[in-house]
Amino acid sequence: MSKSRVLVSASILDSDLSSLSAECRKVLKAGADRIHIDVMDGHFVPNITLGPGIIKRLRKIGKQPFDAHLMISEPGRYMDQFIDAGCDSITFHVEVEEPIEPTLIKIRKAGRAAGLAIKPATPLSALDPFRDLLDIVMVMTVEPGFGGQEFMADAAQKILPAHTIFAGRAVPGEVHVDGGVNRQSAAMCGRMGADVLVVGSTLWKKGRDISDEITRIKTLADEGFRAARLEAKRHD
Ligand code: DX5
Ligand code: ZN
Repeated sequence: MSKSRVLVSASILDSDLSSLSAECRKVLKAGADRIHIDVMDGHFVPNITLGPGIIKRLRKIGKQPFDAHLMISEPGRYMDQFIDAGCDSITFHVEVEEPIEPTLIKIRKAGRAAGLAIKPATPLSALDPFRDLLDIVMVMTVEPGFGGQEFMADAAQKILPAHTIFAGRAVPGEVHVDGGVNRQSAAMCGRMGADVLVVGSTLWKKGRDISDEITRIKTLADEGFRAARLEAKRHD
């Protein structure tokens, strides 16, 4: 397959958690560009998953990028551990009730990409104070906490304007879309210019050909992107 514009970061939340490293290898071999790891603390969201210890061990599978998505109330408290675990990017939520700037600075100082995620109801303007410290904006298109939820098209409207956060930069940051991304929603994400699609439960359905699924989702997103560009040109 030729290289797609959009990248897929595979969420392993709904994979076989008893064989995580095998699942990571499988999905990377099937064409995922990165691994998206959902960390939940049972406080910021009503679910508990895994922590930096498991990520550090998983890291041994190879060099492919690991994106950590921290749905935890105190990212600052645990940040050293996530950096030590070998995450390539670390994204936490703008809705946390603690200082955000020092944690973003710490991530960047460690040479990792720093990101902020926004829940569906949070306006993009919440990110304004941190725009110069961000490498990633993660637009949530479901309420964080669980895989397998329905894509929220309203929340997806933030994908396109999210790119303005990186305006004027020599190297622009990335806009990730997380939640309910599948064959039905991929074209819309592409139209909105999403750079990285977080794809979870749809990959892990029984009997699914993961490689075929990733190829279809990438193709649909790229077609959506091209169609939107053509429409915009026609209106110029
Ligand atoms: C939800 C997580 C997502 C989730 C995506 O809180 O942040 O990464 O695993 O799974 P799907 O693709 O099923 O929405
Ligand atoms: Zn996630």
